[in-house]
Amino acid sequence: MCGIVAAVADRNVVPVLLEGLRKLEYRGYDSAGLAVLNGGLQRLRAVGRVAELAAQADAVRAAGTTGIAHTRWATHGVPSERNAHPHVSGGLAVVHNGIIENHEALRERLKADGYAFTSDTDTEVVAHLVEKKLKSVPDLFDAVRAALAELEGAYALAVMREDDPSRVVVAREGSPLLLGLADDGCYAASDASALLQVTRRMVYLENGDCAEIRRDGQRIARIDGTPVERPVIESQLSADAVELGTYDHYMQKEIFEQPDALANTLEMVGAARSLQPGLFGAAAADALQGARQVLILACGTSWHAGLVARYWLEAIAGIPCAVEIASEYRYRDSVPDPETLVVTISQSGETADTLAALQHARSLGMTRTLAICNVPESSLVRETALRFITRAGPEIGVASTKAFTTQLAALYLLTLVLARLRGRLDAAAEARELKALRHVPAAVQKVLDLEPAIKDWARLFGGKQHALFLGRGRHYPIALEGALKLKEISYIHAEAYPAGELKHGPLALVDKDMPVIAVAPNDALLEKLKSNLQEVRARGGELFVFADADSEIADSEGVHVLRLPEHYGALSALLHVVPLQLLSYHVALVKGTDVDKPRNLAKSVTVE
Ligand code: M6R
Repeated sequence: MCGIVAAVADRNVVPVLLEGLRKLEYRGYDSAGLAVLNGGLQRLRAVGRVAELAAQADAVRAAGTTGIAHTRWATHGVPSERNAHPHVSGGLAVVHNGIIENHEALRERLKADGYAFTSDTDTEVVAHLVEKKLKSVPDLFDAVRAALAELEGAYALAVMREDDPSRVVVAREGSPLLLGLADDGCYAASDASALLQVTRRMVYLENGDCAEIRRDGQRIARIDGTPVERPVIESQLSADAVELGTYDHYMQKEIFEQPDALANTLEMVGAARSLQPGLFGAAAADALQGARQVLILACGTSWHAGLVARYWLEAIAGIPCAVEIASEYRYRDSVPDPETLVVTISQSGETADTLAALQHARSLGMTRTLAICNVPESSLVRETALRFITRAGPEIGVASTKAFTTQLAALYLLTLVLARLRGRLDAAAEARELKALRHVPAAVQKVLDLEPAIKDWARLFGGKQHALFLGRGRHYPIALEGALKLKEISYIHAEAYPAGELKHGPLALVDKDMPVIAVAPNDALLEKLKSNLQEVRARGGELFVFADADSEIADSEGVHVLRLPEHYGALSALLHVVPLQLLSYHVALVKGTDVDKPRNLAKSVTVE
């Protein structure tokens, strides 16, 4: 988490740093800070949003042609001005994204050397350590490399020094960082969106890279000093894609972008009646053909996508599938099968737990690895043998929406490819499935038309403390996703259960104050679900049912029913999640919470 920006240019870089931080605020937003060199070192820090920092910068007319900046998601030390970055040591300033795992040992050593600490952060050790190295290694680039050799953990760092205003030294290990090459200078940031304001020419650093950016260029070396070249890439990211446009919130924009996001993701399939394994990468045919089972690794919403996919993979492709929460899998003794297809799912491709789980799977001998990811240049995509890039476009709202539905589309394509390879699907059936999939964007568009009715429902949730979500079969993960969305942005405590499990405990919670939201498509489990809903109603629970047009569930006292326009068979999970996204969005509006930046969270979880 946290976002960093750095600049060395022929202009006052403060506006660029601030605009970069605004674009990176999704990565963390509990405090922000910047430092510039203008004869001396000027440092500004503010608790809260980038807007607070911008007001401060305005008030003191901060200016300089070399600078670094940071927006924070607190890990070590509460959000406060003293813990906000940059951290300084002598005339040196540092911003950092990641976690220095050996910070306690380093802190003790540095204290013994006489360094005084003014914050509770792990980052401050980096400032003092580089300052200490400078005493024996006077060149900043070399001193940073010497310090990096002693750090354990993950970092993207930017370091500058008042005696040396011509450059900023940056480094990457485990946290994203790229350089931006512009006519008037050189920049660095946690992601491309922060630098589109100045350039499209980007250089993505690799783990273990250290770079020096100057007004007239950059050079990159490995930590041991070996020079390396990295390709310059013209970013295809559209500046409009990261603007809010006519919407009130990014989450709202992203919910409504789903038809386009799905259509764009499916564009690579075109009008094909049959899929080629090459859709997942050049080496996919062999890797997929020989896979004996699938292991899905992911976190949060991406994990929910994996849970839905398990139903598809086992039922349609007939391949055994396990779905693991990445942060648990990596620390569990499991029984590896080298012929497993390891599927990692991540919107950002930078989620530390998912990356570590992938490394763990590889260390156990599983080399058939696939990433389903929304960011082509991300670490995850670079670390897997196969990949499928969803084309959701940038997702800024912390609550994941369009990334989820496009992940589902990708996972359905994977299911069809595996089903064909395993002889479980004939050509005609595959063509039918693809036709149905191509119709999903239009079907989602119709679901979005339910918004006014969902808005009315949302008013009934304003005063609630708790909510229960129910689903069955492949709609149980959709219930999980609905509950996650509601708690994440409206702070209402929500739980999801497979409806049949209700009577084994959670039914005890049900009373008139416990709204129960049911995902009730017209599938083989509908009659079973209806019985479960009766159990709720009989205990006074108020039901909010998302049914299909042809589900026979009537509106009655305490039973509210909304009907989705179409029944969509195996693909209905893609449709039924949409009203749950809209419900949580409108409940959050009723409650007045910060929809796009919910408390305590960040978009990209790059720490363990
Ligand atoms: O970028 P990723 O998909 O790897 O992120 C995983 C989770 O952190 C993410 O899905 C999180 O649960 C969302 N905020 C949920 O809306």
